[in-house]
Amino acid sequence: MAQHIGILTSGGDCPGLNAAIRGLGKAACDHYGMRVIGFLNGFRGLAQDQTVELDDARLSGILTDGGTILGTSRDKPHRMNLGGKELDMTDAILATYHRHQLDALVCIGGGGTQKNALRLAQAGMNVVTLPKTIDNDIWMTERSFGFDTALQIATEAIDRLHSTATSHERIIVVEVMGHRAGWLALEAGIAGGADVILLPEIPYDVTQIACAIRRRTQSGKRFSIVVVAEGALSQDDAREVAGLVQARDDADSKTSRSGAKESLRRFHDEHVGHTIRLTQALEKLAGQETRLTILGHLQRGGTPTASDRVFATWLGTECAQVLEEKHYGVMLALQGSGLQLVPLAEVAGPIRQVPLDHPLIASGRRVGTSFGD
Ligand code: F6P
Repeated sequence: MAQHIGILTSGGDCPGLNAAIRGLGKAACDHYGMRVIGFLNGFRGLAQDQTVELDDARLSGILTDGGTILGTSRDKPHRMNLGGKELDMTDAILATYHRHQLDALVCIGGGGTQKNALRLAQAGMNVVTLPKTIDNDIWMTERSFGFDTALQIATEAIDRLHSTATSHERIIVVEVMGHRAGWLALEAGIAGGADVILLPEIPYDVTQIACAIRRRTQSGKRFSIVVVAEGALSQDDAREVAGLVQARDDADSKTSRSGAKESLRRFHDEHVGHTIRLTQALEKLAGQETRLTILGHLQRGGTPTASDRVFATWLGTECAQVLEEKHYGVMLALQGSGLQLVPLAEVAGPIRQVPLDHPLIASGRRVGTSFGD
């Protein structure tokens, strides 16, 4: 009997999703004779049984397209906002899975998707996942697709900001994505020759940044580029977060835990836009005109790079083979030069941050880049 496979994309979109859907769909249908359907808008489409048949016509001509032909959302199976209420849709999802007589479900997504996929696997579904995110922060894989494209976009932006920073003798702060991991800031900063790189992993002191910029000025360099990850924290903020996390972990009742979680959420909400405050503080301390550019969702839009197309296609086609062999409860990960199957139970949860002893941090320091510490 031909296998029947469902696919969905979940979490923030990124370039390469269509290449992965195409690779998986074509290999599954044409090579292994499977039937493939797509669920629309992440786990919501699975809960509400919104589907699209992924036949040859639907899979053609999408390799180079940005976004996802399936649509995506940040909905969670166990806490889905429907009609203003948060509902556990796990049973509805299981019912859809059985109604379509699926043999397996492929979830393409980032860290949050791995956790949701694990929940569905624990509820009895056969699940395989593929790693995507421009943040490159999924545990146990050295790479997720989308990252290379975002890196190219951020690097080109930094290159362009150099000439205007030089003309006006200004400091330009450029915010790139990356809430809890600084891979994009680190690599785009190094590729673009940033003078300062601020990562969530290395809390910064704004006076140290101002000192680094003054040193540049004294050596005759009248402009500076500061690349900041959106999740970078000042040393004071990092202390506050550590206190909030500790309070959450120490909470001895449900009420105090949910209060501590709420405080943490409030901190993160208020942290959005911190680069505006950083830019203002820097202008004062360094005594130099300063401007801010927030790259935002530009980094997630448009056509994937060749490298992301190749990697996403490889993941997709390999996934068809994994399904054929009936390996479930796993994510396909890049480790070394090959793809490996890693258990979802191990992938779900931790975030792959930049280790403080990562060689690229040392490399940045050796070319004179300040990390604000
Ligand atoms: O998770 C990927 C990511 O691109 C983060 O870097 C960013 O903080 C987040 O998504 C923003 O997502 P959205 O605006 O879609 O909620």
